[in-house]
Formats: sequence, structure tokens, C-alpha cells
Amino acid sequence: MNIGVVGCGYVGLVTAACFAELGHSVVAAECDASKLRILQKGQSPIHERDLPGLLRRHSGARLQFRQSIAEVVQHAQVVFICVGTPALHNGESDLSHVDAAVREISRCVRSHLLVVEKSTVPVRTCAAIRRAMILNGVSPDLFSVACNPEFLREGTAVRDFLYPDRIVIGVGDERAQRLLNRVYRPLTSGKYYRRCDRIPSGSSASIRIIETSPETAELIKHAANAFLAMKISFINAVATIAESVGADIGEICTGLGSDARIGSAFLNAGIGFGGSCFPKDLYAFRALADKAGYRFDLISEVIRINDDQRVRFVEKVRMALSPLRGKHIAVLGLSFKGGTDDIRESPAVEVLRRLIHEGVTVAAFDPAAMIRARKEFPEAAVRFAADPYKAMIDADALLILTEWPEFAALDLSRVRNLLRSPIVLDGRNLYSPSQMKTAGLDYTSVGRPPVLADSTQTESVALTSSADDASWTTGGRPSLGTAT
Ligand code: UDX
Repeated sequence: MNIGVVGCGYVGLVTAACFAELGHSVVAAECDASKLRILQKGQSPIHERDLPGLLRRHSGARLQFRQSIAEVVQHAQVVFICVGTPALHNGESDLSHVDAAVREISRCVRSHLLVVEKSTVPVRTCAAIRRAMILNGVSPDLFSVACNPEFLREGTAVRDFLYPDRIVIGVGDERAQRLLNRVYRPLTSGKYYRRCDRIPSGSSASIRIIETSPETAELIKHAANAFLAMKISFINAVATIAESVGADIGEICTGLGSDARIGSAFLNAGIGFGGSCFPKDLYAFRALADKAGYRFDLISEVIRINDDQRVRFVEKVRMALSPLRGKHIAVLGLSFKGGTDDIRESPAVEVLRRLIHEGVTVAAFDPAAMIRARKEFPEAAVRFAADPYKAMIDADALLILTEWPEFAALDLSRVRNLLRSPIVLDGRNLYSPSQMKTAGLDYTSVGRPPVLADSTQTESVALTSSADDASWTTGGRPSLGTAT
């Protein structure tokens, strides 16, 4: 089929490349000239696993990049709108990019076109697009509108696209339903999974399409993101209690997640969620609920717990290193999660900002996000290191802030030798306390008893944190008596 994609951000670019991978002929529009030049060279402007391979395979052949939406519309039977919908100051989504795309699409429609909204948008945006197209002079029999929300996670977006748990299509008419079923047939028929050159992944079970009204599909997207964020905030709240009573959040998760009704996904405690989706979508969903006359206080709590989680982690650093001013810290991880160079709403960036504000200097390393992070931090406060170990040289503590797999496989004896004080604060629970104890490292994580290394280090840590001992039962760490 001939497919068009408007907007080559994370969602649009992955969507365009994956549709080409499924055998469709794709033309994608990107208005940013410098990004377009990179794409037209067959390169990826973002760090995303599997994407460079797909671009090499299809760019210039089944996948073309253009600046103008007109060329996309000329080419396509189905156009996916994948432009950004950033948050406005009141939490609502800013739909101006969607609006501009729809106006331009309307100008160019000559034969029947299915317009599919893929960006996260408030309920009834499909209906608004339909209205706008008619107001822009497009005859109703020349187009259909549908909603096909994406559930892609950065870092695994290509595999999430090609091996989805489900595909949701919100369609208002039979033609839209037929076209979208054809678009995804290589997945639903299993044809793609029989190809020997497919992008491999764990499961290739047959994929289910869930057909709904556009409004229902829009609400599924909001509810899915809010529910996942709620799971994370829930487990982080439990982690806070676990710290106070000397319980272990890892074991709690095993106990909780083994109940099939609960499931173990998205129950990793840490410094909370960030990224371009969850924070923004929560505000948008709450604003939408407000408009619908419902006070969704649960969402406000999810946001509050998430904000607190960063503050609590900074408090743990303060307690471990007090006074903070003048200390030098090694930081591993800047992106909002592992596997991406995206630092939007990154908890790591926020923690770092707060620490710098309190007078620490930082040597940081991230496998992908340093180019973006350089623009965020003044050079005097943050030195960007060439590898994780270079960041640790002579640091007063090591902070792990992003769940990159390589940070879970550090040479711990090297870590101990490089640090000035053997103190590790792990905001992502990448190590077991017993591992760190064996390595002779003082280890503070989230929702688990802290490890105080050997007696000499215990002494030095106790000296620096003695003034705060009383608060350990309510703050970061239980009293020494409950430590392992
Ligand atoms: C999310 C949704 O998962 C995806 O379906 C939607 O389409 C876009 O938003 P993404 O933001 O890429 O995807 O990342 P995700 O893997 O969901 O993680 C979001 C944040 O939650 C990250 O900061 C991550 O570190 C954090 N997280 C995730 C936790 O703190 N604990 C967990 O158990 C899982």
C-alpha cells in the first residue's frame, strides 16, 4: 500500500520505517531542514535500537523523506499524523501542529484519503479533524478519519511496533476499518514473522486488532499511559514504606508481580518516570477529566509521588555526603531511561540540577545522551567523561540514575578503587545489596535496606551522617540496626 507519514519525531520515524519494513511504500514529511538532510542520507537523527538498520535497508527505496506534506498526500492512500502535541501551561495538549498538518492535508486531497491520528491527543480530536477538513473544503466522501494510538517505548520502539501486544484502531466507517486492516495485515496474518530477514524478537504470536470507535481508542491511549505511570508511582510509594520498616522492594515486587492479576511489568522502583509521554499525558488526561466534569485526584497523586521520588533521592545523597557543597560526584545516566538519547523530563537531569544547585561538581557519563545533555548544563558544573570509569576517578560518590544495561555490569572492584569514598547511590536498583556488600561498597538504593561496607567505611559514613540519624527511619535509610 502507499502510506504517508507527517512528522518524523520518535513516533513518526519509527512508524515510517516499520511500515516500509512491512512492505509498504512510504513517503514521510519532515519540516526541520537539518533533520531532513540526515534522513535523506539514510541516517537516523535519534538513538533508537534497530532503526539505523531499517533506514539503511529501506531509505531511498520503499522509504522516502520529503519536506512537503503535499508530496505525502499525493503518494498516499493512508496518511498517519505523527506530529508533536506538547503540553500547554494548563496541562492540555497543544494541538497546533496537528491543526497545521490537517490544514495542509486538506489543501492537497484529490482522491479518497484515510487520515489517521497517531500522536497522543485528547478525546474527540478525530472528530475535530473531521470537522476541520470539512471546513477546509474537503468533501466528506473524499476522506475518512481514524485513530490508531501508538504504544511504543523509546529504546524498543521498532520491536514494539513489529511485535505489538495489540493494535487498537478507532474507526468511524467501514472504509477506514478495511484500509487499516490492510495496513497491518503483514502482522495480523503472520506473514512478516515467516520472513527470514525479519527483525527478530521473542514472540511472534498472532497479533490482535481491537476495533473501537475513535473516542474509545483515544481514551484507551490515555488510560494505558496513566495506568502504567500509576503502577510505577504505586511501587515507589511502597518502596518508601519498605525503607522505613526495613523491607526489600525487590522481594515485594516478586511477591506482587507473581499474581497474574497484577503482573510484574512496570513495578521497578526507582527515581520515577520521565520522558516525553508519561508526564505530559498525565497532565493532559487530568485536564481532559476536568473538562468532562470529573476530578481525577488519583492522577494528581501519581504525579506527586513521582515528583517526590526525585527529591527523596537527592535527600539520600545529601545524607550520604553531607555537607554537599564542594563534593565531586560521578553520575551514570542522563537519559530518562536506558536505550535512548532522550533527556526530556529525565529524572536524572532533574536530580543533577538539584545537586549542582547545592554546590557539587559532577563528572557524568551516558552512552547516548551526552550530546543533548551538554546543552542543559554549564561546563563548569558538569564534565562529560569518555566512559563510566573515567567519570568515577576521585569522586566522593557514584550515582546511578538511568537503567542502561551496561551500568548493571560494572567491574565493582574497579569502581571501588577509582572512587575517593566507596559510596554508591543507585536510583534504579541495578545491583543487589549482597553484591555491593561483597564488593566492599557502601550502597544506598530505593526501597531496600542500605549496605554499609566494611567497618572503616561504616565509621566514615556514620560520621558524615550522624546528625541525620534520627531521620533515617522516615527518610532514605533505616537505622543501622536494621541494615543487612
Ligand atoms: C511510554 C509507554 O510505555 C508507551 O506505551 C507510550 O506509547 C509512550 O510512553 P516511554 O516513555 O518510551 O514509553 O518509556 P517507558 O519504558 O514506558 O518508561 C517511562 C519511564 O518510566 C522511564 O523514565 C522509566 O525509567 C520509568 N519506569 C518504567 C520506571 O521507573 N519503572 C518501571 O518499572 C518502568
